[in-house]
Amino acid sequence: MKKKILLLHGPNLNLLGTREPDVYGKMTLEEINNRAADHVRGHGIELRAEQSNHEGALIDILHIARNWADGVVFNPGAYSHTSIALRDAVSGIKLPVIEVHLSNIHAREEFRHKSVIAPVCVGQISGFGWRSYLLGLDAMLGHLGLLDSL
Ligand code: DQA
Repeated sequence: MKKKILLLHGPNLNLLGTREPDVYGKMTLEEINNRAADHVRGHGIELRAEQSNHEGALIDILHIARNWADGVVFNPGAYSHTSIALRDAVSGIKLPVIEVHLSNIHAREEFRHKSVIAPVCVGQISGFGWRSYLLGLDAMLGHLGLLDSL
C-alpha cells in the first residue's frame, strides 16, 4: 500500500516569505510545500501538508495522523523549545517523526538550543533553510525503507 507522510508546520510558519527573511529565507510556505511535493514525486508516496499556530490543534493533527500516516516531518517552530504537550503527543502516537528547522537552532539564541521534542524523534535536521524539509523527507523515506540502500 502507498505510504503516507504528513508534513507538519507549527506556529508562525504561515508567515514564511515575509517573516525575518534573513533568518528563514524568502520562500513562502506554499512554495516549500510545492517543492516538497515535487521532491517526493516518483517515490510512490502520498504527502499531505498542514500548518497550525495552535498547540492543541497541532496535537489533534498528530493524533489524527496516527490513523492514516506512516511518518511525520515536523517543524514545531517555537514550540520545539517549550511544549511538553507536543513532545508527549509525538511519543504517544508511535509514528516516526523527524524534526526540521529552517535555521540552525544551535547557532542562535540560547533559548533555542534545546528542543524538548527532538529526543522523542528519529532525528533532527536544522540549518539548511527550505532544504531542511527536503532533507527531512529524504530521511523519512530512508527510515521507511523507500530509498535505494547505498
Ligand atoms: C524554527 C526555529 C524556532 O526557534 C523558531 O521559533 C521558529 C522557526 C526554524 O524553522 O528555524 O519559529 O523552527
